[in-house]
Amino acid sequence: MTLTEVYRKGEEMLLKANIPDADVDAAVLMEHFFGCDRARLIIHGDDKADEGLTQRYFDAITERTTGRPLQYITGIWNFMGYDFYVGEGVLIPRDDTEILAEEVCTFLYGKKNTSAIDLCSGSGAIAITLGKVRPDCTVLAVEYSKDALGYLDRNIELNNTANVTAVCGDVTECFGDYNDGTFDLVVSNPPYIESEEIDTLQQELKFEPRMALDGGKDGLYFYRIITDKWKSKIKPGGMLAFEVGERQSEPVSELLRIHGFENIYTKTDLHGYNRIVCGIKNNR
Ligand SMILES: C[S@@+](CC[C@H](N)C(=O)[O-])C[C@H]1O[C@@H](n2cnc3c(N)ncnc32)[C@H](O)[C@@H]1O
Repeated sequence: MTLTEVYRKGEEMLLKANIPDADVDAAVLMEHFFGCDRARLIIHGDDKADEGLTQRYFDAITERTTGRPLQYITGIWNFMGYDFYVGEGVLIPRDDTEILAEEVCTFLYGKKNTSAIDLCSGSGAIAITLGKVRPDCTVLAVEYSKDALGYLDRNIELNNTANVTAVCGDVTECFGDYNDGTFDLVVSNPPYIESEEIDTLQQELKFEPRMALDGGKDGLYFYRIITDKWKSKIKPGGMLAFEVGERQSEPVSELLRIHGFENIYTKTDLHGYNRIVCGIKNNR
């Protein structure tokens, strides 16, 4: 078969299985297995495809027809220009989370020898981006799931971020391990889906760990705990920054207000939803 024939057959198999964005997924897997992006496919489409790689490509396409996320099949995903290992047991870093990562990197711009903590760190997408973009920032990445921690450790190594340290801890308890006023920044993309909503989610999300998604009855469990228990760990003038779900920016902003944060603001994602809420710890 030629490269074009392999691609077309892959796309057709995904379409038949009702996989959304079949063309994109078929193309991503072409690039993953053959190193052949869309531009190369146009130029070299008539070249004969290697038989071994073709078999692996169709095995991956078959896996994808079961709904297994594309990112778990490739085992690696890009976030903010950096590669991250992903697989069963860890949340796939989302494009929406790049808004939070960008915002916290911007907040630390121009500040020297800063200290940050990423709570509920998962693959380490936020912590490692911070560690790369702000190399003089010391970053702690707290995660409770043993499976996710395995990925976090490997991603710190993959990205060569010696200024990022993975910490095994339950964010609802381990706040006691840190002195007050330790951090310039506390950042978190915690689980925020309402417990009852989880079973109604699209097929792909069911492959991801429930622990990464479940934000309690109203989805706000972690925002309450983190704001209440971690605010004293932030230096005066430091920031608390959250990613939030589509209907959560108002209650989370209100929470920060009640806890005395100032200059509270939100930023929207590409769909126009408020995706992050940030506030500054007051100087009092
Ligand atoms: C929504 S995911 C976010 C992962 C990563 N920060 C990201 O943005 O891609 C939430 C993460 O919180 C972790 N988690 C859940 N409960 C936790 C707890 N009590 N303490 C620490 N981490 C927890 C989950 O295992 C999961 O990795």
